[in-house]
Amino acid sequence: MTATGAVVLAAGQGTRMRSRVPKVLHPLAGRSMLDHVLAALAEAGIEQPVVVVGHGAEAVEASVAGRATTVRQESQDGTADAVRCGLEQIGDGVRQVLVAMGDAPLVPGALFTELLHAQAEGDARIALLASRPNDASGYGRIVRNPDGSVRAIVEDRDADQETQGLGEVNAGAYSFDATWLRANIGAVRASPSGERYLTDLVAMATAEGGTVTVVSAPRADLAMGINDRSGLAAAARIMRDEIAERHMRNGVTIVDPANTYIDAGVEIGEDARIEPWTVLSGTTTIAAEAVIGPGAQVIDSRVGARTVVWASVIEESTVAEDVQIGPYSHIRPGCEIGPRCRIGNFAELKKARVGAGTQIHHFSYLGDAELGDGVNIGAGAITANFDGSTKHRTTIGDGAFIGVDTMLRAPVSIGPGARTGAGAVVTRDVPAGETVVGMPARRIGTRRRNLEADA
Ligand code: UD1
Ligand code: CA
Repeated sequence: MTATGAVVLAAGQGTRMRSRVPKVLHPLAGRSMLDHVLAALAEAGIEQPVVVVGHGAEAVEASVAGRATTVRQESQDGTADAVRCGLEQIGDGVRQVLVAMGDAPLVPGALFTELLHAQAEGDARIALLASRPNDASGYGRIVRNPDGSVRAIVEDRDADQETQGLGEVNAGAYSFDATWLRANIGAVRASPSGERYLTDLVAMATAEGGTVTVVSAPRADLAMGINDRSGLAAAARIMRDEIAERHMRNGVTIVDPANTYIDAGVEIGEDARIEPWTVLSGTTTIAAEAVIGPGAQVIDSRVGARTVVWASVIEESTVAEDVQIGPYSHIRPGCEIGPRCRIGNFAELKKARVGAGTQIHHFSYLGDAELGDGVNIGAGAITANFDGSTKHRTTIGDGAFIGVDTMLRAPVSIGPGARTGAGAVVTRDVPAGETVVGMPARRIGTRRRNLEADA
């Protein structure tokens, strides 16, 4: 039994988002708000937190399946009620309970760890995270006694003018003494609005002489709660800055971080250069010394060392080292591009395996295709892979030369070293070394030069 548990509050509707998607599932840098919170808790050593769900419960449950225990809060009666629900899933041996808001995705793991330490060391009932944002509106204000000790948290909507003027706010992250929390959570009374505020526990603890410790966030923006779309955009900007900083510390050049969009899960090797207007999403990895952009989008793909991707889109594909792609090419899902290939202007590939050193320079479509090493694809060549009902494969052997404007009607196989003439419509397999021309393409002879001489 672990001594530390955690409850993440994620049942609220998020009315101000005006969305059919539950608030905590809105993404920042490629991960939901809730995923960011779970990642921070994992950094603080919490592996299986309890997530309290309500609005959009099925979707939220599915999103954390296997990584968190979920419990449903049947009606959203406030944050205290949500914690009461969450506690039902926290084991008896737990001594400290972290509470995190599902809509505060920027709180780093280190601050959760600090809360745990502050609460344990101070023998406090509660340690809470505080910040001083430029605009405190919407947040609960921390009210202190003349001696500086914490007295209470007053919610924005219940605060008088003087209290609203207080700049120190509650970020919504806490460490509680588990025994005290269990004993008192049920005693929180409903506010005039009918909600039970978790924050009332602060006054309850201090009124009975207990200690409430404050951990101050080093930067107010890390403590921000997201309540609407502009908050989401502001948090995403902060997160992008942090991600870019991390890569730059690791030796990646990011020419203009403000115009570069890198998801949290992306990995980039040393001396790679990310040019402006580039979007790297999902589980993408970029190897050392690659140059991505300007104007590139790479989604869930691997890009090899020294490869250049210029103004092109790559999706769910693997590109080896020393490849040049673009400008204006689209590598669609399921491609494997071998080393030293040249692809585009204006090439589209889908489910294509391409061998080493193959050239696909201008205006082509290669779908459901297998290309060997050293193939040359002429301008405008296409695979006609779809007959109206089924997709068929095309194979092109090593060293084959596909003339400009060739149409390869799949299923079809072009042997190693074979050639097609300009405008050929290839409807039958071409044996190794043969040259075919015309429509439909017919043989006109065997290629004289051997493959070795070509290389
Ligand atoms: C809350 C705090 C406020 C703090 C702010 C920090 C309370 C009463 N107020 O205010 O002091 O400054 O966070 O961002 O706690 N939720 C549930 N069940 C409910 C109600 C809410 O799970 O019944 C969840 C929401 O989904 C959300 C989180 O709790 O993830 C916070 O709720 P929200 O309504 O956004 O609270 P705030 O008004 O922001
Ligand atoms: Ca909030």
